Amino acid sequence: MNRRYRKTIIAGNWKMNKTITETKEYAAEMREILGKPKWCEAVLLVPPVNLQAGVRAFKDVKISIGTENCHYETSGAFTGECSAEMVKEAGAKYVVLGHSERRAYYNETDMDVNKKIHAALRAGLRPILCVGESLEERELGVTMEKITYQLKCALAGVTPEQVRRIVVAYEPIWAIGTGKTATSAQAAEVCGAIRTLIRKTYGARVARSMSILYGGSMNAKNAAELLSNEDIDGGLIGGASLEPKTFLEIINASNQD
Ligand code: PGA
Repeated sequence: MNRRYRKTIIAGNWKMNKTITETKEYAAEMREILGKPKWCEAVLLVPPVNLQAGVRAFKDVKISIGTENCHYETSGAFTGECSAEMVKEAGAKYVVLGHSERRAYYNETDMDVNKKIHAALRAGLRPILCVGESLEERELGVTMEKITYQLKCALAGVTPEQVRRIVVAYEPIWAIGTGKTATSAQAAEVCGAIRTLIRKTYGARVARSMSILYGGSMNAKNAAELLSNEDIDGGLIGGASLEPKTFLEIINASNQD
């Protein structure tokens, strides 16, 4: 983390978990234990159907609410989808885009992610853009090629003013939901390389102020070490965000002096 130049963000990605009732219960428990996060912005990314209830339930809890996907069109015949405008109006501040589960299970391409980034920015959302390599790609030594390609595609046509609203999350696919975390050195290396890429395209100021998160089995035990790296500005946390107490431990790990 480098709190001088950029915001630390601890974001929980609930995926397809929790009903509205469970969302309210989570918020009630958090209200009791959270207090005021000292340094970081805590965020919960919830299923779109939970957005309105979530925003209401977390109103007096210092946690921002977002969602996990949006469509790139404003409206139309896209059964089962939600537009960026819809999730924005339902109360989302952030939206996760390009998550590896969306890419793998719903065939989302890098071009789709680019269109979604533009749609989210137009709607006034803050995209959390996910990039990451598979185990095979890491073993072949093409991690940075893959991430460079994903970033270039996702950010095509995005201006320096717009890119300031984007958060990038490095999520090695082999570490997601597997209990296998990238070592602190592996995570820091890629997050640092992402910042260098941003610097080359958008200049030093933009790169310095961009929050770059690590995701992939981050938990209460490994968070402090990961977050002690200068280039890791927070986490995107799946499994360990589902219980208020464990999520709070990660938030607290970001409060180190
Ligand atoms: P995980 O998920 O923490 O359960 O590995 C992270 C993510 O998919 O964002």
